[in-house]
Amino acid sequence: MLSQSMQAALNNQVALEAQSSQAYLAMASWAEIQPGLDGVTEFFYSQSEEERVHMLKLIRFINERGGFAKVPALEQPIITFPGLKRVFEEFLKHELTVSASINDLVHLALAEKDYATHNFLQWYVTEQMEEERQARLLNDKLELIGEDKSGLYLFDRDIMQMRGSEDGK
Ligand code: FEO
Repeated sequence: MLSQSMQAALNNQVALEAQSSQAYLAMASWAEIQPGLDGVTEFFYSQSEEERVHMLKLIRFINERGGFAKVPALEQPIITFPGLKRVFEEFLKHELTVSASINDLVHLALAEKDYATHNFLQWYVTEQMEEERQARLLNDKLELIGEDKSGLYLFDRDIMQMRGSEDGK
């Protein structure tokens, strides 16, 4: 059985994952109407789906442990961007926020000696390490590329390969 404080903290995480899914959906939609960003578009549609899966896993866990998962209201995310660099900066910022929040959950689980939740959260810890690594890598690549058009072409082509590189489940 989840404590009230753990239930509230997990529900906050549900909202954060839902908001991430929404933010990446907006990035995908923005990229889709820019010329030549097919790879980036698919990458963010796929990221948005992954975040939805992250949210669903939490919802199922909360309910299975005797709590009540509350489907959250969502804010409109950033929907337009001055350029690709900003998109990926926001992506990294978002992932760092999620990682910090997962760390707080792990801390709470240990403090409450809730080892079932602690065990459940390990999947998220691993997932966040990978997502942060990927977001940093993509930001570093964009930094190197700068305004070079052929570099951006290759970036968009290569990011296609990164789609679904994680199991997302
Ligand atoms: Fe589920 Fe990328 O945070």
